Amino acid sequence: MSKPRRSFASDNNAGVHPEIIEAIRNVNEGHVVAYGDDDVTARAVKLFKKHFGKSVEVFFVFGCTGANVLGLKAITKPYQAVVCAETAHINVDECGAPEKFTGCKLIALQTPDGKLRVEQLEPLLHVFGNEHHVQPRVISISQATEMGTVYTKKELKAISGFAHANNMLLHVDGARLANAAASLEASLKSITADVGVDVLSFGGTKNGMIYGEAVVFLDPKLAQDFKFIRKQGMHLPSKMRFISAQFEALLSGDLWSRSATHANRMARLLATELEKVPGAKIRPTQAVEANGVFAVIPKKFIPQLQKKYFFYVWNEAISEVRLMCSFDTTEEDIHDFVEVVRRVVK
Ligand SMILES: Cc1ncc(COP(=O)(O)O)c(C=O)c1O
Repeated sequence: MSKPRRSFASDNNAGVHPEIIEAIRNVNEGHVVAYGDDDVTARAVKLFKKHFGKSVEVFFVFGCTGANVLGLKAITKPYQAVVCAETAHINVDECGAPEKFTGCKLIALQTPDGKLRVEQLEPLLHVFGNEHHVQPRVISISQATEMGTVYTKKELKAISGFAHANNMLLHVDGARLANAAASLEASLKSITADVGVDVLSFGGTKNGMIYGEAVVFLDPKLAQDFKFIRKQGMHLPSKMRFISAQFEALLSGDLWSRSATHANRMARLLATELEKVPGAKIRPTQAVEANGVFAVIPKKFIPQLQKKYFFYVWNEAISEVRLMCSFDTTEEDIHDFVEVVRRVVK
């Protein structure tokens, strides 16, 4: 059985968008000053200010774990706590780096769909001022969430309002912020600065870059010591211009939203086509609001499907799988995969 060139395992498994490769090639001539003191970086920073607001402070880093950890480090003390969803990448997929580098306890709350709600946060307040307890300081949410869902502006405002009313800050893991913005048909600013987000990890890698993420301080006062934190945290790229050039390509036109919109559309198509598979054997478990589809596929069919199209089982206990789409997923990929599913589950 020949293997297709793309799979649904992860948007990280995708290649690099040709326009990004072109942008890298275009800045490859000659020498420029290292560590970000160059024109390409200045232009990329300007674009972030255009998209997120004039006063934001922006720092480029290599990856999103680093962006999350260092962004959180900048706004916490080790006796404080970061509240997040149980499914949050910072809780389950960063090998304890947030705890190690910030010293903070993560308070992980169960959610049905990856989204935190204010009602769940209220009970945390009673520990304030009590020296026997870590002090909740940051609420960290993922947008889009790890479950492929998206917070609405109203939900974001409710959480930031709660945070600020209780002397806390709102951090967003935006590894897939572009997918969330595309899903909400909203600008990047309208779902971050305008709804009270304080610190953001803005993802590039999952949206067609080779690597490179940005820590964006929507409240610039919080960025005061960040240049030291980034260097000590080993995330100051020397050849910065190559990350900057990628962000410039992403943000100067519509590449960021074009790619994210496409990935989201492919995920919706995939979910719709899977639901048409006869016998109701494939059962979606989450609303498809970004570029991921979560569905239960009976266990006995999974190894055979994975032989041709690799994907991950997300929750073994209920045989739930995660299928991710990316900027380069095609309708043909989806129809071919669904055809394989039809044959296998028949
Ligand atoms: C929501 C989310 N945040 C953060 C990360 C971490 O990214 P990286 O692997 O670049 O450290 C990922 C990676 O899959 C992710 O899905």
